[in-house]
Amino acid sequence: MSAMSDSSTDSRKYTGKIALITGSSRGIGKCLALQLAAQGASVVVNYRQNADLANDVVEQAKALGGDGIAVQADVENPEDIIRLFDAVQDAYGRLDFFINNAAASAFKKLLDLKTHHLDRSYAMNVRPFVLGAQEAVKLMDQGGRIVAVTSYGSMRGFATYAALGSYKAAVESFIRYMAVEFAGYGINVNGVNGGLIDSDSLEYFYKLPGMAPMERVLETIPLRRPGTVEDMANAIEFLLSANSAYITGQTLVVDGGMTVAAAPYYHQTTDPVSLPERPTRR
Ligand SMILES: NC(=O)c1ccc[n+]([C@@H]2O[C@H](COP(=O)([O-])OP(=O)(O)OC[C@H]3O[C@@H](n4cnc5c(N)ncnc54)[C@H](OP(=O)(O)O)[C@@H]3O)[C@@H](O)[C@H]2O)c1
Repeated sequence: MSAMSDSSTDSRKYTGKIALITGSSRGIGKCLALQLAAQGASVVVNYRQNADLANDVVEQAKALGGDGIAVQADVENPEDIIRLFDAVQDAYGRLDFFINNAAASAFKKLLDLKTHHLDRSYAMNVRPFVLGAQEAVKLMDQGGRIVAVTSYGSMRGFATYAALGSYKAAVESFIRYMAVEFAGYGINVNGVNGGLIDSDSLEYFYKLPGMAPMERVLETIPLRRPGTVEDMANAIEFLLSANSAYITGQTLVVDGGMTVAAAPYYHQTTDPVSLPERPTRR
């Protein structure tokens, strides 16, 4: 344990809290892990293949005054999920926050989705959330929070996104069921649904065949910028904090307004494209 983790003298927000974040060696998960560690939490940094990145996040977490361990586990494999929670129990004995963040999928048109694409997308995106939540509940002896990260494809049709979008919608449905069933254990369950978020996976995603050009999508965002990993981590952290104590079963959308702007979009009704002038009173 690090020097600043003495909970009797440490008044930081998450001192003494234990957080497990799947897929936290990079991107949104990493950003959240470091935010929590900076507030005194111990973070379990899960990764699939890049141990160096995960170990580096743990070192950064300790330097920020938190604690952490890195645990390799492929969440597509149910045995790895059990091993991941065994590692949490061995290191810390209990758990406060479980964040289901790791995701991967086939990105193809619906007619090109084969059985193995569907099966693996389910095994990677839905099953780990359910199996992970079952294990998390057993370790949340003082109540806790479960947050799943979903994406805008759960609500809107988007090129090549049918498999992941539909399984993210299933995750959002499980959030509601878990919220009801786990409330009696003092566990709130919520989701954060991200729009276009600037991370490694965005680079990968927009280079795939059949994708809309990123510039076209960016034009449809009312706040006129992509989201950042900090935007996502801030929303997740809110759902872990005492400030969201009465919120459960909900999915908070963090997309700069993208999914509430109905077509035709503003930029499609004006020529040339221009920012609207702000009206003044006199
Ligand atoms: N980026 C976006 O535009 C966006 C938008 C909306 C929602 N989201 C959601 O946000 C979440 C995080 O996305 P991100 O963009 O931050 O991801 P990312 O930067 O691609 O990071 C992926 C992380 O997941 C780990 N990982 C991948 N496959 C894994 C597996 N099978 N088992 C365990 N860990 C695995 C990676 O570890 P290794 O490197 O070791 O494999 C890495 O730590 C996802 O649920 C995603 O759907 C993203």
